[in-house]
Amino acid sequence: MDFNLSEEHRAVQEAARDFAQNDLLPGVIERDNEQKFDANLLRKMGEMGFMGMMVSPDYGGGGMDTLAYAIAIEEISKIDASAGVIMSVNNSLVCWGLQEYGSDEQKQKYLTRLASGEIIGAFCLSEPEAGSDATSQHTSAIEKEDHYLLNGTKNWITNGNTSSVCLVIAQTHPEKKHKGINTFIVEKGVEGFAVGRKEDKMGIRASDTHTLMFSDVKVLKEDRIGEDGSGFKFAMSTLNGGRIGIAAQALGIAAGAFELALKYSKERKTFGKPISEHQAIQFKLSDMATRIEAARMLVYKAARLKDEGKDYIKAAAMAKLFASDIAMWVTTEAVQIHGGYGYVKEYHVERHMRDAKITQIYEGTSEIQKLVIARELLK
Ligand code: CAA
Repeated sequence: MDFNLSEEHRAVQEAARDFAQNDLLPGVIERDNEQKFDANLLRKMGEMGFMGMMVSPDYGGGGMDTLAYAIAIEEISKIDASAGVIMSVNNSLVCWGLQEYGSDEQKQKYLTRLASGEIIGAFCLSEPEAGSDATSQHTSAIEKEDHYLLNGTKNWITNGNTSSVCLVIAQTHPEKKHKGINTFIVEKGVEGFAVGRKEDKMGIRASDTHTLMFSDVKVLKEDRIGEDGSGFKFAMSTLNGGRIGIAAQALGIAAGAFELALKYSKERKTFGKPISEHQAIQFKLSDMATRIEAARMLVYKAARLKDEGKDYIKAAAMAKLFASDIAMWVTTEAVQIHGGYGYVKEYHVERHMRDAKITQIYEGTSEIQKLVIARELLK
């Protein structure tokens, strides 16, 4: 597999790196403290094409491949993992899902605005009692003549408040289990749709995570995505691709913390010399860099397989499993290298450490990734 980046990939990398350094870095600590993302930054991310990178230009997207997308998420998450997840959900779960499974009318109506960043989307699968066990959906969509009536509660919804459009996964025929699930496009502001509590999170604090409630929400049949009963397949396949985005986010968090630790180790002196000259620190830096490089190879491999139209389910789950585990480990080591300074906000690495944790949890916990990998191995 060729891991050389093309000129186009390098240009994306540079643009994302510049944006992260110039626009995201100032204010990243404040946004984390205030638990609020900046609407102007979101608009700029849209203008720069980061919100619909893989969407066809026919629908206003960048028409780029998954590798370009992963590279951009890595660069952005090096500085601000909250921006990384906002981008990842909009690109991988919402835009990609609509592009692959939506009707032409749905794409015209929603995808163009989502891809340009004019609006952002949310992917609503998790429920109070259905996170990992995605088949056990309690949210119901009862079929009426020309519409469905949607009732239920969704939890842990990234972009829950800031989104204008939600892809809601619900049970329509409980007796059919996973074959009785559908996905619906639901716009904010419709009667019976309410945004509930905001989660006060450990990490990715600038991205908003909310509970969403649906009480007799009328959803027209034309707003169902795909064939009747295709919702579970829709959720599983969008999550397969989404895992590449989250793996890239984890990689970025690790790489961002590593860069800070490397720099700090050359500046900070103990026992009369920079700490980078102590073997104890050199061992740490070497292990961190090696694991980051291995994670990057897995992320690029998964992205390349997807771009080549090959089976990428196992590769995406492996990339997410490994990248999220090394993100937790690398960020903890980065704090350790910084000593007491690492424990305060000003030095950024404590944020990276807090942000890393969620990558082992969302879009399938590490344990779920192992189940996905095992399913593929045992096929
Ligand atoms: N890709 C494609 N299809 C898949 C699949 C995959 N990875 N995993 C299962 N399927 C299909 C199976 O082929 C099967 O289809 P058929 O009946 O047609 O053969 C069907 O789905 C059911 O398969 P299983 O019986 O194996 O399903 P299961 O109930 O045992 O669940 C699971 C399998 C892998 C555990 C799945 O439930 C899963 O991935 N759970 C995790 C969900 C998740 O990631 N939740 C996070 C929420 S989203 C989020 O975090 C977004 C955010 O805001 C950041």
